[in-house]
Amino acid sequence: MLDITQVKTPAYALLSYIIQDPVSKQCIVIDPGSTIPSHICTNPMHVKAVINTHLHPDHTTGNRFFAGKVPIRAHPGDSGFIMRSVHFALSTLFTARIPPKISFDLNDGVKILIGDNSIEVIHTPGHSPGSICLYWPGNLISGDTIFAGNIGRTDIPGGSFSRLSESIRKILTLPDETKIWPGHYYMEKYSSILYNERPSLISIVQHTQ
Ligand SMILES: [Fe+2]
Repeated sequence: MLDITQVKTPAYALLSYIIQDPVSKQCIVIDPGSTIPSHICTNPMHVKAVINTHLHPDHTTGNRFFAGKVPIRAHPGDSGFIMRSVHFALSTLFTARIPPKISFDLNDGVKILIGDNSIEVIHTPGHSPGSICLYWPGNLISGDTIFAGNIGRTDIPGGSFSRLSESIRKILTLPDETKIWPGHYYMEKYSSILYNERPSLISIVQHTQ
């Protein structure tokens, strides 16, 4: 059983996550914003990795707190020239700093181990080429692929509505009781369960057949 801490950054309605194994105290930090608790950043001895669900800069502004201390990982689909250019330009604009190095090693199916727990990477392109979700039984960190009551934008460079629809089909194979932990909140909705999202997701997928 992993502990989930959701961290809000109101400026972008961003939701970051700290996923921790209560036994070993090991954790991963997902999509750190500027509001990640300072004790995690200044004493990251238990942080195994920082994971970016994709490289839009609102999801990476807190990477700088961990630069040189722990690995920062993402899917190789966001390592292309356009995504790196967008990330570099916007990151330097947001933080006035050159963004830290990222390991693009989170391919579909990769397992991230935290203590005795295993989290699976699911490649869910569409919002960006390298967008990923993170799944372990009962929980899905969904990044900007799906939200509580909404889906991710596809009108940003690298976005594709047809690829997003394919990714939603993958998510629909998960159990109904899976809790959805999105990358942004809307109208005070911070999480959902797949059972509640399924009808609207099915209608989106059917409209693209
Ligand atoms: Fe995004």
